[in-house]
Amino acid sequence: MRVLRGGQVFLEGRLAQTEIAFDEEGIQAIGSELDGESIDCSKLIILPGMIDVHVHFRDFHESHKETWQTGGWAAVQGGVTTVMAMPNTDPPSTTIEMIREQRRRAEASPVNFGLFGGIVPENLKSIPLLAPQVAAFKLYMGETTGGLRITRRSLQKEAFARVAETGKILAVHAQRLDSPSEAHDLESALELAVQTGVKLHLCHVRTQEGLELAQEAKEDGLDVTIETCPHYLFFTQRDLEKQGTSLKVNPPLTTEEDRTFLWWALEKGWIDILASDHAPHTVEEKQRPFERAPFGLPGVETTLPLMLDAVQREKISLARLVEVFSTRPAERFGFSTKGRIAVGCDSDFVIVDLGRRDQVRREALATRCGWSPYEGFLIKGWPVRTFVRGQQIFSAL
Ligand code: NCD
Ligand code: ZN
Ligand code: ZN
Ligand code: ZN
Repeated sequence: MRVLRGGQVFLEGRLAQTEIAFDEEGIQAIGSELDGESIDCSKLIILPGMIDVHVHFRDFHESHKETWQTGGWAAVQGGVTTVMAMPNTDPPSTTIEMIREQRRRAEASPVNFGLFGGIVPENLKSIPLLAPQVAAFKLYMGETTGGLRITRRSLQKEAFARVAETGKILAVHAQRLDSPSEAHDLESALELAVQTGVKLHLCHVRTQEGLELAQEAKEDGLDVTIETCPHYLFFTQRDLEKQGTSLKVNPPLTTEEDRTFLWWALEKGWIDILASDHAPHTVEEKQRPFERAPFGLPGVETTLPLMLDAVQREKISLARLVEVFSTRPAERFGFSTKGRIAVGCDSDFVIVDLGRRDQVRREALATRCGWSPYEGFLIKGWPVRTFVRGQQIFSAL
């Protein structure tokens, strides 16, 4: 047994000076003067491991951008102990064979995982068969990296209805690139959810009008969760004009008004889940002329530091941060022993030093894509140790 001693522990929504005894089976005791080999956590804060429900790891034909190994190490270095991987790989996770192949690689990576099964017109009938093999399903209603997409309304409805029967969550990329209104795109997903009773998760929502519409649906009793991503909290289309193609992302960055509203909605509780949408592409690919550059920004290892800095600038409370980046993701996607620190839960911890100051530096990144849109940001508050199922797999001390 080992004991995290001397730190402040995030317990039931607040920090408490206490100790945690744990092993690879899970958290065994919480209290004072616990027996076991000490791990000194004085001046540090112990949080449940972060759960990032939207990452793109790109094994197979795009392994030059990221793999389960490189992305997994990037995750744990950023305090993320569980990731959920999107299906738009090449080849995509739309068949039992590819999902099995993803699982093999995920199991060898340092991070806990869940897999999304992708939906295409060809596999609609296989949804019940795929269901036991995946944590949740993902439907692209708008264009995305890779070719996964269903645009015909009747087929979209069939996808919603079939996923509803499995009881799994359906995550949707509802935004269309040529659409003038995020709310309009989300409305079409919300309508299908009402008609089919599916449990809906809206990926990367980033406008005030989109949020207001989704929140209204939630208040009307629809089983829907709203996700946003760090790049919509830290950048706007102004930054894209200044920094150019590197900030090309799907759905695109919007206005300062939306950005301000997002921060408000995050603290208010309208946003349920924060996820990185870690979408790695190489420096060379991102330096192409705008029209030919791929959409996407890496982010799995920078989200927690950016948010810890925001906590200290009083943009968001620590309690809300843990809620949106650990507790709610765990609840929503069925990781019943994760997302909080309690006896019987898994030993997934991130230990953070709120006093540590450092810049986001390219050399320090673990992602294979080799760059970050946040390079040069001076951040106060970094993860210094990460434990996954009781094993310390990252330490910066
Ligand atoms: C994602 C990718 O590159 O896989 N890109 C992005 O800009 N977000 C795809 C997606 O999330 O739609
Ligand atoms: Zn290929
Ligand atoms: Zn998307
Ligand atoms: Zn994505």
